[in-house]
Amino acid sequence: MRHKGNNIKLTVNNCNVSYNDEGPDGAPIIIFIHGFPLNKSMWDKQVKALKDNYRVIAYDIRGHGNSEVGAIDFSIDLFVNDLLSFMDALKIEKTMLCGLSMGGYIALNAIENHPGRFKALVLSDTNCRADTPEAKEKRMNTIISIKENGLDKFANDLIINLFSAESFKKNSEEIPVVREMIVKTTTQSLFKSLHALAERKETCSKLAEIKMPVLILVGKEDKITPPEVASAMQEKIEGSQLSIIEHAGHLSNMENEGEFNSQLMKFIGNLK
Ligand code: MLT
Repeated sequence: MRHKGNNIKLTVNNCNVSYNDEGPDGAPIIIFIHGFPLNKSMWDKQVKALKDNYRVIAYDIRGHGNSEVGAIDFSIDLFVNDLLSFMDALKIEKTMLCGLSMGGYIALNAIENHPGRFKALVLSDTNCRADTPEAKEKRMNTIISIKENGLDKFANDLIINLFSAESFKKNSEEIPVVREMIVKTTTQSLFKSLHALAERKETCSKLAEIKMPVLILVGKEDKITPPEVASAMQEKIEGSQLSIIEHAGHLSNMENEGEFNSQLMKFIGNLK
């Protein structure tokens, strides 16, 4: 039996996972995967916009939001395994998938390895490349810095890169919301996630094999995964669409939800 609502608990791969599941029974399903180190609430405005016509699911990746950290090390492969087990537990054979940044890394890996389980893909502010040696080193230095300087400094430094200058100028209400998500993530989870991100494999060489509708969205001012990165992915995925979201940085779905939602709804509304 389906449980509808927010913060529903489910054990997946020996880990207690928290998810929101809204919208009518039998409606087309879309699953949202959040970025690092955020949680499912970053999709609240998309869930609200879609839930009258779609079954909308947003879950907390293990170690994030209200999901347990679990005992084992993290990897993108593990996160994909969790996603597939989560879908099995909810008896979802096939779904649309939307991932932002780390959520996009998970979505790309999932589609590469389990293409039959997905109908369409929305990649937001993400990348198919693996970390460079410098990026890996930066992540390890971040771990050291969190140990030495604490979470507040980590959150302050990260937020500067997550939001556009415009969002800061207009004092976006999303900034303290995101800050809270970051500082509520445990250091244990941050360290495990930083290792997983550093060790992830590239998916660029498999993009040409994606044979489903794909929409790529990116904030015009995204400093972490800029529009050039999105455009390089679009060139490799046959038939994919790219839309650059104005007035937004890396968190395009939160910084300009109006444009983001309109592109998303147009894309999924046109799917057969
Ligand atoms: C994210 O938003 O998920 C992160 O920027 C991903 C990363 O650090 O590579």
